Amino acid sequence: MADPDHSSARTVIDDDPAAPVATFERARLAFGSRVLWDDLDLTISRGEFVAVLGPNGSGKTSFLRCLLGQYGLDGGRLEVTDAIGYIPQQHADDSDPMAMRGRDLVGFGVDGSRWGVGLRGRLRRRRLVDAALAEVGATAYANAPMGLLSGGEQQRLRVAQALTTNPSLLLCDEPLSSLDPTNQHRVVELIDERRRSANTAVVFVTHEINPILPYVDRVLYLVGGRFRIGTPDEVMTTGTLSELYGSDVEVLRVNRRLVVIGGEDSHHCDHLAEPPTSPTPAAAGRERDTGV
Ligand SMILES: Nc1ncnc2c1ncn2[C@@H]1O[C@H](COP(=O)(O)OP(=O)(O)OP(=O)(O)O)[C@@H](O)[C@H]1O
Ligand SMILES: [Mg+2]
Repeated sequence: MADPDHSSARTVIDDDPAAPVATFERARLAFGSRVLWDDLDLTISRGEFVAVLGPNGSGKTSFLRCLLGQYGLDGGRLEVTDAIGYIPQQHADDSDPMAMRGRDLVGFGVDGSRWGVGLRGRLRRRRLVDAALAEVGATAYANAPMGLLSGGEQQRLRVAQALTTNPSLLLCDEPLSSLDPTNQHRVVELIDERRRSANTAVVFVTHEINPILPYVDRVLYLVGGRFRIGTPDEVMTTGTLSELYGSDVEVLRVNRRLVVIGGEDSHHCDHLAEPPTSPTPAAAGRERDTGV
């Protein structure tokens, strides 16, 4: 397995406003004989919005873990900023949702950083939490138990938590899952606002590209140990995805949305598992409308 202490492979750079936030050079990550990617070159600039796509188990979360320093590369190099915010992939956890307030969740984002304890530390913590709550428009329900909040409200708080450290690189692991189209749109807007106002780079893992398509500069598409990097127009094509999946994949553009036929497991709302005999826009109509 990749070694997180593989210090020669990952260099943390101070937050230099002139530098890119992350640079992978000939990067390789593998678990045993399973290679997630190899020979990956990617520089992520400030203010850039990078979407990370691919089927379950293709290595999207692992890619974020490398940026976070939780996984070390098995080969190549990574240079990355030390100012990172992280919205983890949601898993059911055993914390009591009625005991924790939104404000507490946001505070965890501060506690993990360098501001420490004591009165000054506590005042600073409170200021940071209040500022992050205001930034995402969650002040009104910050004192309510998490368990009483809607999925969209909870997700706003998770964005706030990631912003408390004033990151120059924001890592988002499927932040839209389980949100309805309206709330998906709100959360994406929130993240994009942050990107525009603070020139924060965004790496956004998702199974649904349509809600973020208007914002995406580049796509990193991972499949079975292979990958493609490029603009959505370059990567999200019938030719590129068929080559990447090693099977017939068809990409349709319908009303500024992408519909991918074949290629991925059927849970993906923008993929049709069974290719219809003659793909038409009507086929796309059967898909859930993402509202974008
Ligand atoms: N620490 C680890 N040790 C061994 N294998 C791992 C480890 N972390 C991840 N893997 C494996 O690497 C593969 C990629 O996992 P990862 O969580 O990155 O996938 P993913 O693309 O985020 O999938 P999903 O869409 O389901 O979230 C999986 O097969 C996973 O089991
Ligand atoms: Mg994942």
